Amino acid sequence: MRKLAAGNWKMNGLKADGVALAGEIAQRAKAEKLGCDILICPPAPLLFPVGAVLAGSPVALGAQNCHANEKGAHTGEVAAPMLTDAGCSYVILGHSERRADNGESDAVVRAKTVAAHKAGLIAIVCIGETLQERDAGETLAVVSRQLAGSLPDGLDAKGLVIAYEPVWAIGTGRTPTIVQVAEVHAHIRQTLKGRVADSDAVRILYGGSVKPSNAQELMNVPNVDGALVGGASLVAADFWAIAQACS
Ligand code: 13P
Repeated sequence: MRKLAAGNWKMNGLKADGVALAGEIAQRAKAEKLGCDILICPPAPLLFPVGAVLAGSPVALGAQNCHANEKGAHTGEVAAPMLTDAGCSYVILGHSERRADNGESDAVVRAKTVAAHKAGLIAIVCIGETLQERDAGETLAVVSRQLAGSLPDGLDAKGLVIAYEPVWAIGTGRTPTIVQVAEVHAHIRQTLKGRVADSDAVRILYGGSVKPSNAQELMNVPNVDGALVGGASLVAADFWAIAQACS
């Protein structure tokens, strides 16, 4: 399966930073054709300037969130059709930081996923356990529950990407062992059967402290179909090295 290297910039960078970073990634992508898909997800105000820089390159544009409603009185929110209009083809939904900071439940993530599909976006639905849940041996149950609650019916592999991001591995420099990653990704693949028509074709990304030094090892794990990269995606050379490991 063609892997996906996705950069989640989170709430980082001003226009000049984003344009420079995206420009470097676009340039590298034009010069060296990789065998993976490449995606950049900047903060919302940077979607238009970053999109302009990426135009004509093989690098796709994505957002980090959308509202469940198409439009209306929701001050400060961004609707999925606005993201499509800005040139996005992907949107990250249910990231653990949004689940924690904004109290996003599985039901909310599910409603947002429906909205994203309606707008023609590919939803990257994020799931993953906390350290407390991992230590209690609840990881697979948590992941199953999140998938059951966050995914609407009638999905197909073209419109859906899953990102497994253990909360305790995000921004900490800690990663699960290869055996742990393999176990959870195999479980996700199994759980998707019956939920998604062509479940074997759904890309399941790993996220959480992915860096150039561990990317290849992680990408070699069965059912790991790409990476969702936070901190390392803010450094062009690091993100590119991870993208190379995905191809
Ligand atoms: P880090 O790569 O900084 O650990 O972040 C991972 C992440 O949350 C990507 O969505």
